[in-house]
Amino acid sequence: MKKLVIYYSHDGNTKFIAETIAREINADITELKTKKTMNASGLMKVGWGVRQLVSQSEPVLCAMEKNPTDYDLIIIGSPVWTYTFAPPIRTFLKNYSMLGKKIGLFCCHGGQKGKTLENMKKLLDGNMIIGECEFLEPLSYEKENNKKKAIVWAKKIVNE
Ligand SMILES: Cc1cc2nc3c(=O)[nH]c(=O)nc-3n(C[C@H](O)[C@H](O)[C@H](O)COP(=O)(O)O)c2cc1C
Repeated sequence: MKKLVIYYSHDGNTKFIAETIAREINADITELKTKKTMNASGLMKVGWGVRQLVSQSEPVLCAMEKNPTDYDLIIIGSPVWTYTFAPPIRTFLKNYSMLGKKIGLFCCHGGQKGKTLENMKKLLDGNMIIGECEFLEPLSYEKENNKKKAIVWAKKIVNE
């Protein structure tokens, strides 16, 4: 089974989990990168993120290094932004058909994941979702436990 981990990460938490999972299950990995990047920090960053969400934006993505259609199992990871997934994930899900793939979903958040995974599933209507997982600020809070959690989850969905 060919496996791919696809993620967006602004501050590295989702990247950390994505890399942990990919290493553990020997999957390929690709990062969603937006053509326009955001250099703000603190409240400016939150304001920028909220504007993106309110406008339901679909930021233009750079070309991906891997083609999802070549894979059987796809694991998608997003940070939580204002209780839902980050806008680059919307661009990705709207532009690539995941039909016929096994899908695993995860998110990283600061304690309020809201409807992130539910909203991702809405855009994946008709797909086989084989697992979901969430991680609380894995880089700054219980890093090793979050790493172990990612490994256990990844092994489980590979056997689904
Ligand atoms: C614009 C913005 C909005 C956020 N909204 C939420 C939120 O609604 N709930 C939450 O728990 N964390 C929220 N966070 C925190 C991130 O989800 C959390 O720090 C996550 O681990 C970041 O992942 P990353 O390091 O991969 O970018 C928000 C962060 C940003 C920048």
